[in-house]
Amino acid sequence: MTAAEAKTKIQYLTEKINYHNDLYYQKSKSEISDLEFDQLLQQLADLENQFPEFKMPDSPTQRVGGTITKEFPSVAHEYPMLSLGNTYSQQELEDFDGRVAKGLDGEPYEYFCELKFDGVSISLKYENGVLAKAITRGDGVRGDDVIANAKTIRSLPLKIKSKNIPARFEVRGEIFLAKKIFEQLNKEREDIGEETYANARNTASGTLKMQDSTEVAKRKLDCYLYYLLGEGNPATTHEESIHKIEAWGFQVSQTYKKCKDIQEVLKYIEHWEKKRAELPLETDGVVIKVNNLSQQQQLGFTAKSPRWAIAFKYKAESISTRLNGITYQVGRTGAVTPVAELEPVFLAGTTVKRASLHNANEIARLDLHIGDYVFVEKGGEIIPKVTAVDLTKRDGKLKPVKYITHCPECGTELIRHEDEANHYCPNENGCRPQITGRMVHFIQRKAMDIDSLGEKTIEQLFNLGLVKTPADLYDLTKEDVMKLEGFKELSTSNLLSGIRASQSAPFEAVLFAIGIRYVGKTVAEKLARHFKSMDALAAAGYEQLLEAPEVGEKIAQSVHHFFQQKENLHEIARLKKAGLRFTSDFKEPEKLSHALGGKSFVISGTFQHYERDELKDVIVAHGGKVLSSVSGKLDFLVAGENMGPAKREKAEKLNVKIINESEFEAMLR
Ligand code: IVH
Repeated sequence: MTAAEAKTKIQYLTEKINYHNDLYYQKSKSEISDLEFDQLLQQLADLENQFPEFKMPDSPTQRVGGTITKEFPSVAHEYPMLSLGNTYSQQELEDFDGRVAKGLDGEPYEYFCELKFDGVSISLKYENGVLAKAITRGDGVRGDDVIANAKTIRSLPLKIKSKNIPARFEVRGEIFLAKKIFEQLNKEREDIGEETYANARNTASGTLKMQDSTEVAKRKLDCYLYYLLGEGNPATTHEESIHKIEAWGFQVSQTYKKCKDIQEVLKYIEHWEKKRAELPLETDGVVIKVNNLSQQQQLGFTAKSPRWAIAFKYKAESISTRLNGITYQVGRTGAVTPVAELEPVFLAGTTVKRASLHNANEIARLDLHIGDYVFVEKGGEIIPKVTAVDLTKRDGKLKPVKYITHCPECGTELIRHEDEANHYCPNENGCRPQITGRMVHFIQRKAMDIDSLGEKTIEQLFNLGLVKTPADLYDLTKEDVMKLEGFKELSTSNLLSGIRASQSAPFEAVLFAIGIRYVGKTVAEKLARHFKSMDALAAAGYEQLLEAPEVGEKIAQSVHHFFQQKENLHEIARLKKAGLRFTSDFKEPEKLSHALGGKSFVISGTFQHYERDELKDVIVAHGGKVLSSVSGKLDFLVAGENMGPAKREKAEKLNVKIINESEFEAMLR
């Protein structure tokens, strides 16, 4: 392909993919399948790798990340990012209304109400319609430009298509993790033995500051916009601004309402107090803004906040109830979770009887005593939590909670690693919830996808002594299954054929299913593609494991440890005999050349023409190998900007050749 052809093709693919992306995220429609979409994206990524100079500023390949940012540049806000005054009562709100009326000298005015979204505020700057900066609030005067991470948010336009937009403008809004996504993230983390996150807001904030945008892309952040700034804003009211940004393709929550006076505002507040629980994200109040923009100007700002807006915060509904006891749950990985057993109380629409206490640190932080009265809250969240002890009701005779020392399921002494918050039951092969948990993990959709089996059936099979490990599932006979409660001819044959069908699940899925700690779906995929077979993976040493993409010390240790255990090797051998796929079908993309002739490369720092993952692809596409750490065997260290001094030192010591980006590019020619 000539350069000119590549340029046209890159433009064509960029437009086409963005069209389908917008259709999907803004109109909830799709005209092509996910597979077709992914293929187009792959085609574009390949071309961009070959011709990085033609990559478009709104390229959809940025949505999947790939940029590593060592340090986010600190940028001054053009308009300071102020906070809002808070109120909690109707009286304070009426006082606010009085101040507005006075400030406007008796002119008529209207309000515009929105929900207060509980996320991380962001300022997005567009230049000639292209997203140019995404700045966090910081101290209100300066913030960090996290643009590579913001670009992974699919609902955020990278380029505005509408005509007649100001040459430069700024929109502000809130970046958040939807409740569903947050819960799913925590479930996945729990499943592979990682500690769970405490709340969605902090997780969104932490995610936005991650250095590797590929990781950010996986988290599925989302964003609502609520503020348009900049000269040349054609609107005269906030309402018009909101309609403008909607028309330009920004996502605006459809919960806003124009209110003609403070009485209507109060109705809006009341309406959303209960209903907000149904929204996809957490909210903690209502923001009330004077609608007319010149009236906003007339009212102006105090040092900290605008006089034309205020936040009404919902009091998180909180109620005091007795802590009757603490029970402990044991998960698949042996992690123990303490749960508060509460005297049932009615709170924000449901009866609450239990609340997770996460780990021993949380119990100590709250200084819980059995018999205490504790405050239970359900904020904008769905899951109730214990926030504090009601000390006014503490009985002097109560004793602080003593964390259990032995597993409540099997009696084994618990262990706790130095840098971990959770206690673990080490009795992997003799502790019931760990055994059944591993099978439930094995059959789940993302793993072997045996949907003819469920948690209840697994429990029954285990109780009858029919299965103890996933491999036992493949030895089940018709007679065995007929022993289960409620199973007749048809349901039995369904169950067995479901198990049989899983023999064709790809190796990637098998590797995830066997449940190695810290090996989630993505890591399993990378390992499968890198090592290509179970045998090669099992034989890999710690150092070799570290060479695989996405594998750091924690995962390498865990995988290495897994394949050292006799029981695991035995189980793996049985699964192999049962006919599961133990080799990867993944085909390496065709080589563009053999210019790099099998030489090995470590890349470090940031590059002008490539994102890091792209550079790795380029190396592989031209016949090279990418390693993750510098050793004596390494041929080249490709040094980008901001390369860590430790890597350079090590390379120099070991006589590894260090090359820069243009020297690398010369090797390709
Ligand atoms: S307007 C000049 N509208 O609340 C103030 N803010 O304490 C402009 N927030 O930093 C802010 N939802 O991060 C506005 N619908 C909404 C909001 C909202 C959440 C956040 C925002 C701001 C903080 C104010």
